Amino acid sequence: MKIAVAGGTGAVGRHVVEHAEARGHAVVVLSRARGVDVRTGAGLDVALAGVDVVVDVTSVPTRSARESRDFFGATTTNLLRSGVPHVVALSIVGIDRAPYDYYAGKVVQEELLAAGDVPWTVLRATQFHEFARQVFENLGFGPLHLAPVMRSQPVAAHEVGARLVDLAEAGPAGRVRDLAGPEVLRMQDMVAAYARARSHRGPVLPVPLPGGFGKAMRDGSLLAGSGADLGTQTFASWLADR
Ligand SMILES: NC(=O)c1ccc[n+]([C@@H]2O[C@H](COP(=O)([O-])OP(=O)(O)OC[C@H]3O[C@@H](n4cnc5c(N)ncnc54)[C@H](OP(=O)(O)O)[C@@H]3O)[C@@H](O)[C@H]2O)c1
Repeated sequence: MKIAVAGGTGAVGRHVVEHAEARGHAVVVLSRARGVDVRTGAGLDVALAGVDVVVDVTSVPTRSARESRDFFGATTTNLLRSGVPHVVALSIVGIDRAPYDYYAGKVVQEELLAAGDVPWTVLRATQFHEFARQVFENLGFGPLHLAPVMRSQPVAAHEVGARLVDLAEAGPAGRVRDLAGPEVLRMQDMVAAYARARSHRGPVLPVPLPGGFGKAMRDGSLLAGSGADLGTQTFASWLADR
């Protein structure tokens, strides 16, 4: 097959590309660094010529609901208008249960796919193991690092990438079973383990975030239910591989 990976240079996108190439598919990477802007549509028609399926793993770093809706609205609309026969998109477990501005855009993305005429597949996944690294790097204040009080079910990005290629190969399926990691962990423990692995000796302080999203982080709204598929790589194993 000829598979386009929108966001193929990102945290999960690079794994989608690796798995697709390893299985012998022809792969086209769509990213601004590769000269294709899925949001504006620049370069999209040429890049998608002859493509059988596009896997959409683009993202925008924002905490603004308007920016997230604008981004996922524009990128999804452009992919749906492109003439590609199948769009596979990666979404996130709990986007419709947790009031978080970024998630507002993911809801728009799912709604556009479901309402459109193009055959589609949506996979929701939980946070990647890399989330602990992002928290460690973004919430450090000298030797002190903060971690939101959160129950997480982290999954290996490479396993999500492999599942997305399975779905691209299988054909349109609508919303499929969620994919989550093999265990539920506290974010403060994940960040502390990540800190230790980097030989960081300062404290990691758990902080309950205010508001509805803070509550969702604590109450399990971001965990997959019993019907989800579970990946196999634990957070500890992922950390040991680093
Ligand atoms: N991170 C998680 O824990 C997690 C969990 C579940 C689901 N997801 C979902 O998975 C998807 C990918 O997340 P990620 O963390 O892998 O993202 P990421 O590492 O931030 O990568 C984003 C990718 O999108 C590309 N991109 C951004 N704007 C673009 C544009 N206008 N046109 C073309 N490409 C563009 C980037 O390349 P350029 O900068 O070169 O354009 C990059 O390849 C997102 O939809 C996210 O909601 C993430």
